[in-house]
Amino acid sequence: MRIEDLKKVSLGHYPTPLEKMENLSKELGKGELTIKRDDTTGPAFGGNKTRKLEYLLQEAIDTGCTAVLTFGGTQTNHGRTTVGAAIKLGLKPILILKGEDPGYLSGNLTLDALMGADIYFVPEEKDQEQAANEVIKKYETAGDQVYVVPMGGSNYLGAVGYIMSVKEIMEQMKAQALDIDHVVCTVGSMGTYAGMLIGAKYFNAPFDIIAVPVMPEEKDEEVLAYANEICEHFDLDITIAKEELKIAYGPANAPYAGEEYNKPDPITREAIMMLAKSEAIMLDPTYTGKTFRGFVELIQAGDWIKPHENAMFLHTGGAMALWTKEHLDDMQEQLRTNCKTTQA
Ligand SMILES: Cc1ncc(COP(=O)(O)O)c(C=O)c1O
Repeated sequence: MRIEDLKKVSLGHYPTPLEKMENLSKELGKGELTIKRDDTTGPAFGGNKTRKLEYLLQEAIDTGCTAVLTFGGTQTNHGRTTVGAAIKLGLKPILILKGEDPGYLSGNLTLDALMGADIYFVPEEKDQEQAANEVIKKYETAGDQVYVVPMGGSNYLGAVGYIMSVKEIMEQMKAQALDIDHVVCTVGSMGTYAGMLIGAKYFNAPFDIIAVPVMPEEKDEEVLAYANEICEHFDLDITIAKEELKIAYGPANAPYAGEEYNKPDPITREAIMMLAKSEAIMLDPTYTGKTFRGFVELIQAGDWIKPHENAMFLHTGGAMALWTKEHLDDMQEQLRTNCKTTQA
């Protein structure tokens, strides 16, 4: 079967807007900058996981599952979107979250709780897989059939969502008379970047895909292996070569990913404030804020993105992480210097 003909459930609003960032383009003074608003896919505020979940949850339904279980950190965007998708489809949402119960539900956890998910906190030192298996057994004993969505929705099936998104972007470019030379996205569990890389080659896109990692460690080999596994699985008749990968790590002394995963830093927060102040678009401190910093610095450097070239930023969602207690506490001082507050 052709990849274009794979069945999927309908969860999101498409096409997601592809908008010009006129203020930011003026501010940076280079090519025309656009943004693809995959933060607006829905459900439960959506984000990049929705495109993946449409293919994954089709499989859940086809196999007669009654519950959906997935994994992540306590503030997982993927988990929150999976809960929303499960609710929409009448399936029971179960989350296995790595870490202790924070005792205070903020950010994504607020939304998970509002939607009535079954949430299991598994301390870091415990075997996560074993804990998940015990939870699955419990539901199965009670008569449920559990569909397990992999971390980040990134297996070969989830990646189809982002392979197909390339076609959507190309159609929008035509309809809106836009030229795009580069797309910049985040790479975490890899489904988004690998999917787009494959999609760009498969559909002969006029743009390349540049990724910014969420962790400072080297990711090239892992992405390459995953992408080619997907090509092989679907018999796509293409392979991705190492030279085609464009992963921007940033300066060695201040990588775009920061010191480590989910550790926001003042430079990332500056980038978040830059987009908020220029376009009124909100990013998150763990993924898109770091990627946007990379986007701006790549444009300023003029190497991978030349001064006359047009670049599109893929907004993959997650802004609700801004409202986690830890991030709010961390951000207070910087917020005060970013705005004027007056006690009138
Ligand atoms: C907001 C956001 N952007 C980007 C990513 C990374 O996407 P991927 O896991 O497909 O690499 C994630 C992953 O959780 C995310 O939550």
